[in-house]
Amino acid sequence: MAKPQWSDAFSVGDVEVDSQHRMLFELLGSLLDLAAKPTASHRELSEAVHGLTTYARVHFDTEEELWLSRAPHRYPEHRRMHEQFRARAAELEHELAAGKPIDPLMLAAELQAWIVQHLMVEDQLLKPGAA
Ligand SMILES: [Fe+2]
Repeated sequence: MAKPQWSDAFSVGDVEVDSQHRMLFELLGSLLDLAAKPTASHRELSEAVHGLTTYARVHFDTEEELWLSRAPHRYPEHRRMHEQFRARAAELEHELAAGKPIDPLMLAAELQAWIVQHLMVEDQLLKPGAA
């Protein structure tokens, strides 16, 4: 699975949000590496998913403040997308904590698809002048 690479083209013009997006890519990259390892344990995967989703929650709070100040008319719709991720993340964490068998590659691919699409498409509407 190809790891997503950060590029300045994805900048939304806010130092803090850009640096958090970069960190999300790094955490996602670590999860993809781990998922590809046949020796990865359930516990290691659970911890990597938890690290990523915990960081994503903190990041969404920061980003939502920026939406409110820059593009309040888009805030409700965007917050709904974050809520969908928060709900799915909670579900995944619950399943992992309960010891439910998972396919690491499927799990990593699902998180990658959401995060990459979200950062590279939806969040681009945060750029000054995009609204
Ligand atoms: Fe977002």
